[in-house]
Amino acid sequence: MKTEIIVIDPKRPEQDKLLYCGAVIRYGGIVAFPTETVYGLGASAFSADAASKVFEAKGRPADNPLIVHVCDYDMVKTAARFADEGQCRLFYLLGNEFWPGPLTMIVNKRDSVPDNITCGLGTVGIRMPSNKIAAGLIRAAGVPIAAPSANSSGRPSPTRFSHVLEDMRGKIDVIIDGGDCSVGVESTVLSLAGNEPMILRPGAVTRADVERVCGRCEEYDWRKNDKPVDRPLSPGMKYRHYAPKARMTVYSGEKTDVEARILQKIFEEKTSGKRVGVLATDDQICYYKGADIVLSLGPENDPEEHARRLFDALRKFDEEGADAIYAYSLGLGGVDNAVMNRMFRAAGGTIEEVGPEK
Ligand code: TXA
Ligand code: MG
Repeated sequence: MKTEIIVIDPKRPEQDKLLYCGAVIRYGGIVAFPTETVYGLGASAFSADAASKVFEAKGRPADNPLIVHVCDYDMVKTAARFADEGQCRLFYLLGNEFWPGPLTMIVNKRDSVPDNITCGLGTVGIRMPSNKIAAGLIRAAGVPIAAPSANSSGRPSPTRFSHVLEDMRGKIDVIIDGGDCSVGVESTVLSLAGNEPMILRPGAVTRADVERVCGRCEEYDWRKNDKPVDRPLSPGMKYRHYAPKARMTVYSGEKTDVEARILQKIFEEKTSGKRVGVLATDDQICYYKGADIVLSLGPENDPEEHARRLFDALRKFDEEGADAIYAYSLGLGGVDNAVMNRMFRAAGGTIEEVGPEK
């Protein structure tokens, strides 16, 4: 299949280009487009056929539902209905505060959304993105857009046009080149379907943010258990994710202990003929000159920058042919909690605690 590339100005999206891309979606095609979080792989949220093409292009398991993207509250009503007054009240309260932006809310669905998009669940994830190209594209399409992240299933999510090109060229109708994503990790997935609001996937909107607005919020503890469960709250939780091709290990512990361990690993890997990568923050990279590839997530105390750089760094390690990647844990404040969640999953669901050398 020939994939058309369309360059759109992220600051002032050209309306004629948006109209064309919107029509591709409305008539059943697939368009990859930038959002503020990561690039999405968009299809009409009212078309089961278009949605199945999305699953196919990604190689995504059929039991992992897609998020439905809207550009206004009228459009919300075409895809969602509220279980009760309480769900409705929370939805608008949070929408007023965080939309358009990196928050997905899970509410009850309407029959207009085909079952393969929600994987047979009675609920649907709804998000109103703030990125101008994304918002303009949804408006031009005239229908809500179902879109997962535009990576091949299992690979790190795409935060730049080049990442999407790498994974999706030849598999979809159009890729929009709309610059880099400003947030860099996927949206916070917040369920409003249970008794309490519950964060299923951490993102730039944090538990503290949600608590501030609605007084209460639970968070699924991803550190305790990322292993398969029979009926996960969020089906996406059970898959290995965000993974570079290299084997990744994340260490936590005292800085000096972790440094010593990473240096030891660099030596061991190199002795056995492997290419070794290290992922750290600016203050630490100077210690790892012995590694083959050293990438920084930015200043130690800049969680937003860590989020912007993570997925790009994981892909760079692949490009550079790393066999192993060693990383030092970040804190868990702000969006660092989401960054750590993605690193944890990229490492196959573990963080290794390092104590002092004996
Ligand atoms: O930032 C984002 O959310 C990006 C951009 C493109 O908007 N999209 C994204 O989609 O990350 P995806 O498909 O990669 O992740 C969607 C997550 C999955 O973990 C899925 O299981 C969960 O949302 N999800 C979707 N609908 C759900 C539902 N009805 N109930 C529970 N979890 C749901
Ligand atoms: Mg994804």
